[in-house]
Amino acid sequence: MNAAIRAVIRTCVYYGITPFGIYQGYDGLIKNKFKKMNAGSVKHIIHQGGTILKSARSLEFKTKEGRQQAWKNVKEHDLDGLVVIGGDGTFNGAMVFGEEHDFPIVGIPGTIDNDIYGTDFTVGFDTAVNTVVDAVDQIRDTATSHNRLFFIEVMGRDAGFIAVYSGIAAGSEEVLIPEKDRGIEQLFESLDRTSQRQKSSRLVLVAEGDRNGSVYDLEDEVKERFGDRYETKVTILGHVQRGGRPSCADRVLASRLGVNAVEALMDGRRNEMVGVRNRKVKFTAFEKATKQNPEMDDELLRIADIISI
Ligand code: F6P
Repeated sequence: MNAAIRAVIRTCVYYGITPFGIYQGYDGLIKNKFKKMNAGSVKHIIHQGGTILKSARSLEFKTKEGRQQAWKNVKEHDLDGLVVIGGDGTFNGAMVFGEEHDFPIVGIPGTIDNDIYGTDFTVGFDTAVNTVVDAVDQIRDTATSHNRLFFIEVMGRDAGFIAVYSGIAAGSEEVLIPEKDRGIEQLFESLDRTSQRQKSSRLVLVAEGDRNGSVYDLEDEVKERFGDRYETKVTILGHVQRGGRPSCADRVLASRLGVNAVEALMDGRRNEMVGVRNRKVKFTAFEKATKQNPEMDDELLRIADIISI
């Protein structure tokens, strides 16, 4: 997100616009946490994880009174437009606020889950999957040395992109995701099939939103079904996935989206998210840029199935 913030601020300066950073998202908009920025305010941040502007989930912004207070602050600072960075909650808030006050807002997709319609990738996803792949590679060492079956939970409350991408890249035996629930039987079948091959390690990547229960439930079910056939272990990767040095791909994507977000506002665009699809910058109305339009690629699941045989 820092790379996106940096690009937004620097683009404003480049075009002679005075930029303000708003701390803690919508909460800061309500509580008047505005700070005038310049090109130097965002120096040496492109390589840092997290966000210098900090982040918050604002319940108050969901109320009319909260948004009214935010509007007062926007007017007081004489803002001409707003760039928001986040996932579908951020875009929903932007849509309501923008329409309520006829105010131009452009969004940048920023979530490690990659679950936003209208862009091939969201800011943070590439860094997160690289972190997961590194971790899974390391887990593989123990799994192989000790002939173990690991259930590894990765983030993805409602989406399986992290699980599928890192599953393919780290060579996991199975991937369980919320979008395509193939049931626990599919896992049993796959374990049965591969047991003929006497694999020395087995890794099952499970998105946290998977519908078959927690990784611990899965472990229990496998024990119940197969008895002592597998020595099982569980790892939950958790928030290591949400931080760390951003990858090159994320920095470039965020920079590109940041520049285009400001230019879009200058061109009179509003109520839209800027994304990249097939290597081209594309705009999608906030209304469509939500989780309700997931695009899990069946092709990727097919690849994962074939190469994990
Ligand atoms: O929404 C993105 C996400 O990374 C989810 O995959 C995960 O469940 C959640 O954030 C974790 O959020 P928090 O840190 O607020 O628990």
